[in-house]
Amino acid sequence: MLSIDSLHVTYGGAVQAVRGVSMEVPDGKVVAVLGSNGAGKSTLLRTISGTLRLHRGKVDAGSVRLGDLDLVGRDPGQIVRAGVVQVPEGRRIFGRLTVEENLRAGGMGNKDKAAKAKAQERVFEMFPVLKERSSQRGGLLSGGEQQMLAIGRALMASPKLLLLDEPSLGLAPRIIGQIGEVIAEINRQGTSVLLVEQNATMALGVADLAYVLDVGEVSLSGDARELAQTDEVQRLYLGHDGEQAPLRTSAVSGKKLSRWTA
Ligand SMILES: Nc1ncnc2c1ncn2[C@@H]1O[C@H](COP(=O)(O)OP(=O)(O)OP(=O)(O)O)[C@@H](O)[C@H]1O
Ligand SMILES: [Mg+2]
Repeated sequence: MLSIDSLHVTYGGAVQAVRGVSMEVPDGKVVAVLGSNGAGKSTLLRTISGTLRLHRGKVDAGSVRLGDLDLVGRDPGQIVRAGVVQVPEGRRIFGRLTVEENLRAGGMGNKDKAAKAKAQERVFEMFPVLKERSSQRGGLLSGGEQQMLAIGRALMASPKLLLLDEPSLGLAPRIIGQIGEVIAEINRQGTSVLLVEQNATMALGVADLAYVLDVGEVSLSGDARELAQTDEVQRLYLGHDGEQAPLRTSAVSGKKLSRWTA
């Protein structure tokens, strides 16, 4: 289990991006984190993955623990070896490398050849398109395929906990639906997932538990399905204001979360 307790994070000693957040990701679960732009979602993931320093951020107080292991202060490589792998915002695959080379880069920290071969097989099974395109440059893939490659690359490290930062960003509703199904399948195969999303419909559809971040603080948390029924989430994140018909009722839609358009 990942446990975050009273976490405070600042950038440049001034911007308080995360202010007293406590959160849990139980083993085997999918946990969603919703929140508007600037709520601190990416900061939270960077803190967990040890990449905060690369962004000049600093943990001021609080703890992040994976089981008995304290993750604060560890470098990103150690955290990957502990089983926590992040797919950063904006995918960032290697556009000039082939699909296969991108995947190999994800498995680099893993010395066990048999485990790596198995991980690649699992990735190709989950994403047949990556197998078909394995010798093509990553940069030539569509946005959705690049997101699949970014997720596949992370799976090459055989994570216990996968951190996803807005995987639906900029993708068409149909592709967002596929991403939701992929997350559910990854979880069924035994990986816990911490999913940061602005697409509340997709996130709450796939998550067991959810947290809402509001300017660096948790404003709501609980069972994902129950949370989806609350007035605040309906109004702010699912686009239902009680006066008009629901905008979309399908399980997964392209509706973007926003505090100002609801
Ligand atoms: N490298 C940085 N240096 C200074 N301030 C930063 C940095 N990164 C983020 N911030 C600030 O920290 C706060 C939280 O940002 P963060 O990126 O974590 O939000 P977010 O919820 O991921 O937003 P988005 O939905 O736009 O991705 C914001 O006020 C942001 O401006
Ligand atoms: Mg972000």
